[in-house]
Amino acid sequence: MKRTHHCAQLTPTDIGATATLTGWVDTIRDQGGIIFVDLRDRKGITQIKLEPHDNANLADQLKHLKLESVISISGLVSQRPEGTENPDLPTGQVEVVASALEIHNLSETPPFPLDDEGGDKVNDDLRLTYRYLDLRRPRMRRNLRMRHTVSKSIRDYFDSEEFIEVETPCLFKSTPEGAREYLVPSRIHAGEFYALSQSPQQYKQILMVAGVERYFQIARCFRDEDLRADRQMEFTQVDVEASFVDREDIYALFEGMVKKVWQDALGIEISTPIPRMSFHEAMNRFGVDKPDMRFGLELVDLSETFAESSFKVFSGTVKNGGAVKALNAKGLADITQGELKGLEDAAKSLGAKGLAFIKVEGGEWKSPIVKFFSDEEKAALTDKLAIEEGDIIFFAAAEWERACAILGRIRLDSAALLQKRGKVELRPDDWRFLWVIEFPLMTYDEEQGRYVASHHPFTAPVPEDIELLDSDPKAVRGQHYDLVLNGMELGGGSIRIHQPELQQKVFQDVLQIPEDVVESRFGYMLKAFKYGAPPHGGIAFGLDRMVALLCGTTSIRDVIAFPKTQKGQDLMAQSPTPVAERQLKELHIQTDLPPAD
Ligand code: AMO
Ligand code: AMP
Repeated sequence: MKRTHHCAQLTPTDIGATATLTGWVDTIRDQGGIIFVDLRDRKGITQIKLEPHDNANLADQLKHLKLESVISISGLVSQRPEGTENPDLPTGQVEVVASALEIHNLSETPPFPLDDEGGDKVNDDLRLTYRYLDLRRPRMRRNLRMRHTVSKSIRDYFDSEEFIEVETPCLFKSTPEGAREYLVPSRIHAGEFYALSQSPQQYKQILMVAGVERYFQIARCFRDEDLRADRQMEFTQVDVEASFVDREDIYALFEGMVKKVWQDALGIEISTPIPRMSFHEAMNRFGVDKPDMRFGLELVDLSETFAESSFKVFSGTVKNGGAVKALNAKGLADITQGELKGLEDAAKSLGAKGLAFIKVEGGEWKSPIVKFFSDEEKAALTDKLAIEEGDIIFFAAAEWERACAILGRIRLDSAALLQKRGKVELRPDDWRFLWVIEFPLMTYDEEQGRYVASHHPFTAPVPEDIELLDSDPKAVRGQHYDLVLNGMELGGGSIRIHQPELQQKVFQDVLQIPEDVVESRFGYMLKAFKYGAPPHGGIAFGLDRMVALLCGTTSIRDVIAFPKTQKGQDLMAQSPTPVAERQLKELHIQTDLPPAD
């Protein structure tokens, strides 16, 4: 029985023809003896019908099929009786009156319902254990298809812009200065390791030295990070590098890509140019380097207002060079004790000593701290924060960046609470893109007692700041940019250093990586730069994150066919696993764990 049509194809013009369909049994209904089977394939659903007096034996077989079994079925395409048409289905006018059946695989009862609603209610572990069933759900099938559409759109775009796709190795070498790596032991070189590539960064820069000029790759990357909704240990980047470009060229190139992808995926016109904001402004106004621009609730700086305050928590902070920041969570005065405690805990997890607040209820300011404020201070607050009945104001007094970060978190959490009350609307299809630019090139790492690259050590400083590299490294801005969408970092990149002397200086003098380590890890790159390295720059996008946003989900697991759990496991294939002693020996590895077999 060979398929003649797929399950979304039959229309009234086929009435009278014989069709053979194959697929999965989606539903079985017995309505007063008449058997209805919805047959599903990758394209859609067709209704199969059989009245017992036509073929009692076949009707009995259909009735006892298990859901999700795979069958072929032949029969006459017929008009559905009046009143039983389904206007929601493309095949809703017709049905196939079964005359022959072949069962290819009788399914066991699925452990959870495979419709969107039913599947959403079961826990993630069960879905991931039976991922092949989970992927049959309409939403998951749509997500996979969307991912394909987006990948194709991206490939077409870069092809039309004369970029070529080049594959770079996954088996790379261990390099410091990045995320934690996955090491792969070498069998042939005892005691030596490859590292799985965290990104094709170094290879793509070498491709520029190789004269490729315009490179892209949809590249698999590996990072041993703590997993979250927007982070997997194995993920996909849209990775790009180009020679003889400046920041403006990269912005224009990527805005073109975003426009095309949104058009191809959703038929939506994204308006460009995408707005830009400096890192400093993003932190100062939104308390985060990836602001969600769909709502206000901006941070206000009150350092001046409280510089001489008799409330020592605030004035003391300002005297020590810190900042007092506040945020008016408009309309959230009805916050519950539990919710307030949640916000306080969040603030404390970011190093806040407390989360002072003022609640405005019944025309009164209710607050543990307002008794310390002068009338002028109160007037300044009312003015700067546009305080009204029903508001709640939160304060953070700390070193500037910390105070911003604390209130940045409170801003997001408050928005979520306001959304629950219907007072703020955060629509997933309200696309607010933003370039965040002018990041500091370096940040001081207290733990390591040295500067570390804010992005990575290959980012070029802004030319006019190069002379500050020795005297004031903190003040040096990098030619780095991030593309942010609705509070998620979609991508980031930079114009790179292409002069070997400057790169060496950044490694050794600024980042204080010992000379022998620089030589063993990055020596080959410094050498390559001595053989005609063009000025170059690029960017990488998280494909998983982009597709997730396009699919209206916040978890990238929903757009990866076989993702890992939060604990880094593949529950379906059951990985990771112990390995045989013999395998370890071959790799020159000894463990202090008992052998597996
Ligand atoms: P970066 O480290 O910022 O830059 O990564 C670029 C983008 O990759 C995505 N991403 C991830 N997605 C899912 N899971 C993860 N664990 C994960 N980590 C990162 C993010 C991020 O914006 N080589 C540089 C780019 C460059 O300079 O050209 C790089 O890898 O969306
Ligand atoms: P205290 O004087 O320490 O009892 O603090 C008074 C109020 O200010 C309490 O509600 C604290 O949670 C809050 N608070 C203390 N330190 C800070 C700070 N650095 N930033 C914001 N609020 C604070």
